[in-house]
Parts: sequence; C-alpha cells; structure tokens
Amino acid sequence: MQTKLAKRITGASRSFTRTILDLTAQNTIISFAGGLPDAALFPAEAIEKHSKALFAEKDNRLFQYSNASGVPALKEQIAKHYRDTHADEIMLTNGSQQGLDLMCKTFLDPNDCIIVEDPSYLAALGLFRMYDVTIKAAPLTPSGVDTEALEVLFKTYRPKFFYTIPIFQNPTGYSYDMKTRLEVVRLAKEYRVILLEDSPYEALRYEGVSTTSFADLLPEWTVALGTFSKTLAPDFRIGWIRAPKEIISALTLSKESTDLQNSKFFQLVCARMMQSGELQAHVKSLVDYYRPKRDAMVSALKRYFGESIDFVVPEGGMFIWVHFKKCNDSMKLFDLAIQKGVAFVPGSVFFADKHESGYGRLNYTNSSLEQIDEGVKKLQQAYSEL
Ligand SMILES: Cc1ncc(COP(=O)(O)O)c(C=O)c1O
Repeated sequence: MQTKLAKRITGASRSFTRTILDLTAQNTIISFAGGLPDAALFPAEAIEKHSKALFAEKDNRLFQYSNASGVPALKEQIAKHYRDTHADEIMLTNGSQQGLDLMCKTFLDPNDCIIVEDPSYLAALGLFRMYDVTIKAAPLTPSGVDTEALEVLFKTYRPKFFYTIPIFQNPTGYSYDMKTRLEVVRLAKEYRVILLEDSPYEALRYEGVSTTSFADLLPEWTVALGTFSKTLAPDFRIGWIRAPKEIISALTLSKESTDLQNSKFFQLVCARMMQSGELQAHVKSLVDYYRPKRDAMVSALKRYFGESIDFVVPEGGMFIWVHFKKCNDSMKLFDLAIQKGVAFVPGSVFFADKHESGYGRLNYTNSSLEQIDEGVKKLQQAYSEL
C-alpha cells in the first residue's frame, strides 16, 4: 500500500520539532525546543464552571451539527478585536493551522507562487510544500521583512500571497516596525498580493505598545489568522480567520469539505469566558507569569555566553532567536547540547531552503526559572566544546 502514497506525503519529511518533542519527553532533558504554553496555567476551573453551566441548560441542540463558520457569540467577541469588523467577516477554524491549510486549499493552484519570511514557522513551511507551489523567501530583519527584497519577489513572481507573522514571530521573536508595515501595505496594494497575517502570539506582550495589524491597515487585501491556543488552551483547537465577506464564503466552502464544523461546546465555553472578561484577565496573568521567564533567559544568556552570541530581546511571544557566532551549523551544537541534557531547535529547519545556519530557537515559556538558568548553563558548556 505504501507505494500508493501521494507525492505530497512521500516527499514530506517528519517535522524536526516532533522528533525533538519525542526526545525531550524523557524528563532528563531540559527542553527549550517546543513552543508550548505552560500547562500549569490552563484555566481549568473557569473551563469547568462554564462547561457545567452549559450542561445545566439541558439544551441538547448543543451537540447537533451546525454552521461551519462557527458560533455567532464567539465570532462577535473576536470581531471586536479588529477595526470596523462584523461577525460575518470572521470564521472559526480548528486552530490557526487549519486556517493556513484552508488558505492553501482555497487559493493555490499547482505552480502558483507564494512568499514566506526567511526564516518562518516550520509547520507552515511543511504545509506549503504539500501544495505543489513555488515558495520564495524574503529575508527577515529585527524590524520586519526586507521590503526591497520583497518588492523584487512581488514584481518577479506575482505571488498569490505573502505569509507573514508580524508580531513576536516564530522562530525569531522579531516584530515589524510601523515603517515596514506601511511599506508592505503599499507593496500589497501595488502588486495585488494577499497578506496572510498570522498572529498567534500578539496577546503575549511583556513590554512596549501594541501595533496596528495588517488586518486593520489593509482589510481588503488581508486574511488574518488568530488562535486561542496560546491564551486559553491548544487542545480547544479554536482559531479564526478575519477576511472580507466574500473570502469568508470561499473559505467556508473549503472548511465544509474538510470537517463540516468545529465543536460548538468549546466555542461556547470560550465565548462565555470572553463575555465575562475572565479570558482577558487570564491573559494578563499569563503575561505576568511569562515575563520573568523571558527576563531569566535573557539574563542567563548574557551571563553565561557574554559576547559570544547575539540576539534581540523579544518584546513578547515565546522565543529568542540566538546567533551562535562561532558556529556555522547549529545542528552540531544541537547534538552536543542533547548530550549535556538540553534541547533547542537548530535554525536550518526554519529556512525555506533548509540551509545551514548558526542560529537556534530557544523557548522560555515551558521551563521553570531554575530550568532556564540550568539549561542555558548546559548549552554554554556544549558551545564551549565546539
Ligand atoms: C506562527 C504560528 N502559526 C500557527 C500556529 C498553530 O497554532 P494553532 O493551530 O494551535 O492555533 C503556531 C503554533 O505554534 C504558530 O507558531
């Protein structure tokens, strides 16, 4: 049966982060590799309270099939997040990962071109590779995408969309400044390219002021993805898409053929947590909990590595993108680090062409303050043996 597999599957490689997740399931390894929220913080009590309230209403229609685009009460809450947005410009998805897949399914024909940031989110790259399209990458800098390179790519390849993670990017933690945002908006308008804006980390801001999204700057050319995975719980699998109404109709058609709908039960729990303000309060407590972890990693990196590495302190999100200056290929550092008992993700996996890289992605949200210090110390010991 194996020989019958489609090329998109035989050509796909197992995600490196999955490999690392398996490896680090052993408790002996301190893992900076995943991108997981801290499970201790999932708001189980509030979830239980709203679940019980739903059962108490004894309305069995709750468990019936329903609309593919999602529960109106939740769409209304999400719409408030954007300027001048109505609930019918929102649809709910099975996490933002499904939003990405629906975008590909709805917009991409074989041999189309899309543009990604270099580096970019690993699971998006894996997905895009399955769609038989040309993937071109525009370099990312600490203030956003290199807009000159982007313009050349837009002009040359006339891509369908530009996939961008403009706030606390995965893997770099970088955010676009306003100048870069406005230039990207100009280019999208001039070359008629859709901005596929993915913002899962936006709410996790530890300092600085919030910025204007592409969805608000250029709603007619932006498809924005959001998720409750980082603020509520990944297992709820609730993400959303904000797009012009006619695009929502097309995406809903795609979703119907994929999975008919998401679970209403979880959408309603989520909607009630937003209506009551509990989710917003929970996000504030997450920010207060993660900020010291980011600070601990920043100070441990400075203390143990000194000038031998470079990194930009992220204003939010879950990752620090470290340049290990004396290392051309951080895969070698990874092997040594595992032997010392610490894991991170080598940079090469995040580049569209998988080229060797001296960068690595370190996650700080899923380790304790002690583990952060201990893990960075071990990483430096591995680095000194290179
Ligand atoms: C940039 C980015 N997009 C999308 C996702 C998918 O998130 P989910 O499907 O859980 O909403 C992630 C998860 O880590 C991510 O980092």
